[in-house]
Amino acid sequence: MPTNLPSKSAPPAQPVRVSRRMAHVSYPIRDIVQRARQVAARGVPMHWFNIGDPNRFDFAPPPWITKAVHAALDDPRFSGYAPSDGDEDLRAALAESESLPAERIIVSNGLSEGLSFAMQALMDAGDNILLPSPNYPLYATISRVLGGEDNLYSCGRQWQPDADDMRRRLNARTRAIVIINPNNPTGAVYPRKTLKSIIDLAGEHSIPVIADEIYDKLVLEPSQSPGPVHLLAGDVPVIRGCGLSKNFFYPGARVGWLALHGPGLDDFASALVRLCNARLSVNWEMQRGAIAAVQHAPDHLPAALSKLRSRRDLMVRRLNEIPGIRTTSPQAAFYIFPQVTAGPWKTDTEFVYDLMEQTGIVGVPGSGFSSQLNGLFFRLVYLSKEDELAAAMDKLEKFMKKKVG
Ligand SMILES: Cc1ncc(COP(=O)(O)O)c(C=O)c1O
Repeated sequence: MPTNLPSKSAPPAQPVRVSRRMAHVSYPIRDIVQRARQVAARGVPMHWFNIGDPNRFDFAPPPWITKAVHAALDDPRFSGYAPSDGDEDLRAALAESESLPAERIIVSNGLSEGLSFAMQALMDAGDNILLPSPNYPLYATISRVLGGEDNLYSCGRQWQPDADDMRRRLNARTRAIVIINPNNPTGAVYPRKTLKSIIDLAGEHSIPVIADEIYDKLVLEPSQSPGPVHLLAGDVPVIRGCGLSKNFFYPGARVGWLALHGPGLDDFASALVRLCNARLSVNWEMQRGAIAAVQHAPDHLPAALSKLRSRRDLMVRRLNEIPGIRTTSPQAAFYIFPQVTAGPWKTDTEFVYDLMEQTGIVGVPGSGFSSQLNGLFFRLVYLSKEDELAAAMDKLEKFMKKKVG
């Protein structure tokens, strides 16, 4: 009888060779989970403050979105491949909200894919894109896989971009400046003046700005939102990235988009469409949900922002009372990025693992977001309810008092 099993005399299987590029692929936000599971297996009650998934907590997509998804699931027209660059109605709705022609909208599998496509379309080996330090780790991973060079600009006081440092780091191989506003992992929001100086710098160097604005509706005091950067950009091209994951509390939908603002982006748009064609399509039913997200008033936001504000306030107050910990106050989203100012740890990873072993609090080391931080930092997600946050802060306080004295 034919069989796929190796015969007894076959030599032992060799491990399949993995490309050298894969050495660049890691994802610190999830990497820590393996170790955390071992701690959990010992019966330690865990505080999963490592991953920014609002749906593990008391947040959910607005019902008008899920209703539209349900309707699409029952309609066989949406069971096939969608148009590669996105559902036509969704692109039309986005085009209207972005004041762009529909050809300037590209729908992707989460913003992650959109960013990956944008970087593939911009970078050759040896190029760089200028990234904030700290930043969302996907950027550096993709850049390295594409053979790019790391190039990080500092964010200084209150995690605001340092325009002088940015100027120093721009070089002939820089293909774009990335701004993540509001920022993950710091929760910082950049004022218009800062955004304008970044735009001017990009203009001087004739390169586009990649504006990751995936948290733009989650500015905790909406009156402090600077608005989307393309409105300040004049003739400087802006590749704006958004999606359902954060603003609409629907990360599992895996729908994101790029809106291409400004001149000189025809070839870039055509490259993106070819990348979209090659991967066929984004889930069509979920895109129908995204139409509802774009067209419906964002009535889900006031309640969500109010929860996030009081959780942020609790975290800032408690963290700043703990010896050896200092934090700035995030202005948006649901991340806080405190500094460890005293204690026996040599690296932030050492701190984060010790904290996890002793208290069950799972954070992410700051070095996962930048290799250039000046000090020990870690990121916590404050999506949990106040009672859990307070219990975790009690544990952190006890832990630090023991370590710092
Ligand atoms: C700054 C930033 N950009 C992009 C993404 C990717 O989002 P998506 O879920 O749409 O792929 C995330 C996800 O956490 C993020 O924090």
